[in-house]
Amino acid sequence: MNVQARDVAQEFGHRFGRRPTVSRAPGRVNLIGEHTDYNDGFVMPAALEFATLVAASPRTDRRLHVYSIILDQTREFDLDAAAETGRHDWSDYIFGVAVMLERSGRRLSGADLVVSTDVPLGSGLSSSAALEVSSAHALLTASGLHFEPIAVAKICQRAENDYVGMRCGIMDQYVSACGVAGAALLIDCRTLESRNVPIAPNLRLLVANSGVRHQHAGGEYNARREACEEGVRLLKPALGPIKALRDVTPEVLEANRKRLPELIYRRCRHIVTENARVLEAERALIAGDFAACGAAMNASHASMRDDFEITCPEVDFLAELAQATPGVFGSRMTGGGFGGCTVSLVEAGAVKRVSQILIDGYRVGCGRDAEVFDCSPSDGAGLIPL
Ligand code: GLA
Repeated sequence: MNVQARDVAQEFGHRFGRRPTVSRAPGRVNLIGEHTDYNDGFVMPAALEFATLVAASPRTDRRLHVYSIILDQTREFDLDAAAETGRHDWSDYIFGVAVMLERSGRRLSGADLVVSTDVPLGSGLSSSAALEVSSAHALLTASGLHFEPIAVAKICQRAENDYVGMRCGIMDQYVSACGVAGAALLIDCRTLESRNVPIAPNLRLLVANSGVRHQHAGGEYNARREACEEGVRLLKPALGPIKALRDVTPEVLEANRKRLPELIYRRCRHIVTENARVLEAERALIAGDFAACGAAMNASHASMRDDFEITCPEVDFLAELAQATPGVFGSRMTGGGFGGCTVSLVEAGAVKRVSQILIDGYRVGCGRDAEVFDCSPSDGAGLIPL
C-alpha cells in the first residue's frame, strides 16, 4: 500500500544522476465539518498514512523538471516565464504552488523533481492538497528555504484557487501541512488555530471508497460556495456586520428564515448546524462519548444529503449501511462530495467484520466494488530520512 521513499529516490537517481531529498505530505479524511471551511467555520480532519512523495534536488537554472512515476509523464516549467493560470494538467498543482511561493516573496531555485503517491486519486481524500503541500515542501527544501506549515497551507490554497481555478477552502492543505499522528485536528478556519483531538486507540477510522466521481463536482462545489455567499449577503441587512455564516447561529438563521429563498436557506442551514456538530463531535471524542460523536456524524450525513445536496445514491448507501451495522458509532460522506468516500467511526475489534459487510453489501446493493481502508491519523508534511 505505501509508496516508498527509497523507490522514489532510486527513480530520481536513475533519471537525474544525483541524490535527492524526499518530501512527504499526506492526504486526509475529514471526520466532520463539510463545506464549513470557506464559511470561516470549524472542521475536524485527520492526516492519513496515504501520502505523496516528492524527490527533489536543486538545478543551477530557474527551470522545474518534473517526472510523475504514476503517470509516466514529464513536464517542464520556467520560473522566469510563468503563466498566470494553469493549463488543465496535473502539473498545475506543482507549478501553481511554485508561482504562489514566489509571489509570497520566496525566491526559488530551479529543481528536478520526481513525484509519486498512494493517495487514491479523485476520491475525496485530498490527493490535490497532498501534491501541493509535498511540492511546496520539496521546492522550499531545494531552495534552502524554511517550511512554515500554516503559511504554506495558505499559499497552496491560493494556488488551487487562482491557478487551478477551484475555490476550495483551507482544510485540506492545512491538515496535510500540520497533521499530528494519533489525532484529528479541530481547525478554526477563521483564526487558523487548531487543537489536537486524540483518536482513542480502541477507535478506528474506516474509509470506504465508493469509486464514484461525478464529473460536475468542481462546478457544483463552486455553486455551493456561491449559495453560502448569497446567504450572507441577504442576511446582512438584518444581522449587521456578519462576515460569514460562521457568525450565524442556528437560532438566528431560523428567526430570519423568511429573508432567504428556500434553497439558499437550506444551504445555510447545513453550514450553521454543521459548525455546531463539529464542536459537539470534538466534545464527545474528548469525553470518550463515541456514541454522541457518531450521532453528530450521522446527522452531518443527513444534512449533506438533504440540505446541502452533495451526496449521491452510492455514498448514501455506504453511509446508511455502516450506520446500521453493530460496532459502528457513526458514518458519513467525507470531502467535497458528489461521490468519493465515507468515513465511519468503528470499534477497533469490529473493523474486519464491518469492512466485509460494507464490501459485500455494496456489491449486492449497488453492483460495484468498494475499497475499504482502516486508517490511522498520521503526521503532516515533512522530510523523510533516507
Ligand atoms: C474540498 C475542499 C475543502 C473543503 C471540502 C468540503 O475538500 O478542498 O476546502 O471545502 O471540500 O468540506
